[in-house]
Amino acid sequence: MAGKKRYYITTPIYYPSNKLHIGNAYTTVLADAMARFKRLTGYEVFFLTGTDEHGQKIEREAAAAGKKPQVFVDEIVAWIKELWRELDISYDDFIRTTERRHYERVQQIFTRFYKQGDIYKGTYEGWYCIPCEAYWQERQLDGERRCPDCGRPVELITEEAYFFKMSRYAARLRQYIETHPQFILPASRKNEMINNFLEPGLEDLCVSRTTLQWGIPVPFDPDHRIYVWLDALSNYITALDYGEDGGEKMARFWPADLHLIGKDILRFHTIYWPIFLMALELELPRTVFGHGWLLLEEGKMSKSKGNVVDPLLLSSRYGSDAVRYFLLREISMGHDGNYSLEALVKRINTDLANDLGNLVSRTLTMVERYFDGILPAPAGPALESDGALRELALQTPKAMEKCIDELKINEALAALWKLVRRSNKYIDENSPWELAREPARQERLGTVLYNLVESIRFIAVLVGPFMPRLPERIWCQLGLKGGSAAICGWESLQRWGQLEPGTMVQRKEDLYPRLNLGRELHRDLLPPEGAKSGSPGEQKKAAVPAPADKEKQGGLITIDQFARMDLRVVTVVAAAPVPGADKLLQLTVDLGAEGERQVVAGIAPFYQPGELTGRQVLYVANLEPVKLRGVLSQGMLLAAEDEQGKLALTTIDQPLAPGSPVR
Ligand code: ME8
Ligand code: MG
Repeated sequence: MAGKKRYYITTPIYYPSNKLHIGNAYTTVLADAMARFKRLTGYEVFFLTGTDEHGQKIEREAAAAGKKPQVFVDEIVAWIKELWRELDISYDDFIRTTERRHYERVQQIFTRFYKQGDIYKGTYEGWYCIPCEAYWQERQLDGERRCPDCGRPVELITEEAYFFKMSRYAARLRQYIETHPQFILPASRKNEMINNFLEPGLEDLCVSRTTLQWGIPVPFDPDHRIYVWLDALSNYITALDYGEDGGEKMARFWPADLHLIGKDILRFHTIYWPIFLMALELELPRTVFGHGWLLLEEGKMSKSKGNVVDPLLLSSRYGSDAVRYFLLREISMGHDGNYSLEALVKRINTDLANDLGNLVSRTLTMVERYFDGILPAPAGPALESDGALRELALQTPKAMEKCIDELKINEALAALWKLVRRSNKYIDENSPWELAREPARQERLGTVLYNLVESIRFIAVLVGPFMPRLPERIWCQLGLKGGSAAICGWESLQRWGQLEPGTMVQRKEDLYPRLNLGRELHRDLLPPEGAKSGSPGEQKKAAVPAPADKEKQGGLITIDQFARMDLRVVTVVAAAPVPGADKLLQLTVDLGAEGERQVVAGIAPFYQPGELTGRQVLYVANLEPVKLRGVLSQGMLLAAEDEQGKLALTTIDQPLAPGSPVR
């Protein structure tokens, strides 16, 4: 125990009832960024994730798929691990509740509860929500008997069952919650838990079932299966070898520093879990943080509703780092946030391509142009802008660490981007291209470029926990492949000027080429290239190549390649909004001899339907038809887009016969 700082962080263990979606990925990416940041700052971290594999929901899904439950979950778990690899999730352990190391310990825990009188046998009659694996009291349901959490119908169940005496611990729990303000976060959730569950008086909890097979048997009464939430919550300690085995890991890492979860499962983590822990005479986790929802336009995304965004597909298109950046930056931690492809593309274009990508490419281009790629040494007196840049760089690690400790990951990134933007401003303040014209100011030019590269070093180190692949890409361009601890460790950010002058930089491809929103939106609506259906295994294959990158390497195309595009002039005959889609217009266009076509275009924010009729615009005639919001779209109108995302249709400056080709 040599005084090493330790940090134990967990995600929920997800139901492998289906492939995971971008909402599940959100929690896991948040946890990963925390874990990586803590490692960077010198903590010994244990980062746990896994899968919650028992219960009626899985049993039914497996039956529907015609598979044995174990076979069914094995396939999905393989897919989940693939997803975490793709997203660079640096978990230290992945626990599955069907593993022996888990279920045997859960049986021991159950037996202990029974022996010490926390669990007794009785009869249960109650309403059960299968998707949520949760019981409800009559009074908690509405007239239609729907689950208060998910709104789906609940089922009446009567059975002999074991119960846990929650009431024994309720007062202690309440006292604990009230004296530990860090226990339930965000703070607003604390009162919600007290008022909804503790205030009305805690009912004893039914902790066994006889109506299902797919669960851990109660060891001394094997017709009964252990309630999935008692099974699942225990993962946080079974993964640390809780129990007879000596518990060396328990001693090192328990209590958990952070259970990071979505707000849907706060009740289980802040009421039941701490009570189980009290009954085991274990300390309670320091913090349970319930983050908000990732919403789609149609509401909360969820596996059982089927309105999901596939994180593997997104990552294969835009890269793991960009998807991670978006999730971590866009959603203010603790609040709900919207997922949309527009927002993702906007983040990539503004923060990554414009701010960060440009900083690196402008700086390195100048080092190459003015100093043959050799990093100049700083010299001469420091000017005001030098001091300002240096001070901000030196403050940024601390500022970010504070945000991380307050669980405000999005703000940590905002703090880092302040440095990125400050560095760009430094370029403008010092106009290196003007210095370059004056032979007497070469020394100053060298200082300016040195400071910029040093600032990029700070940024590369600090961005790593959030975008794990990016630092290496930057080190490569700085001629520092692999980056040594002296320049890429946390300590190296204590002092300014750690880079050795004289290294050879090498500007490579842009870190983040700008994307065209119109084109990306169109791609999004195409069927996801074999990745939509089929088994998890099939999807894996489809998701590997990164087509986005290949097209964007600034490569030239041949005239033949260009000629494959059938570009035409069309006349707009009619235009109308698409119901329920505020960005889309549905247009009828005249293609001359080939008749009329129907096109859907994302131009509603910029054009009134009425002003479009009669206009002639450019049109891609041989694009695969797609359905956008259920409306058929044949081909695509061409529009130009500026930095703000404003679109302007491309027109022709003389009237021509509709259908005329563009070459
Ligand atoms: O509840 N936005 O598993 P689960 C943000 N097995 N996060 C979301 C989300 C969304 N739209 N949808 C899901 C279970 N999540 C249990 C957990 S733990 C001992 C057992 C995230 O597969 C969020 O973290 O339903 C939520 O708590 C979790 O996925 C639920 O995953
Ligand atoms: Mg759920």
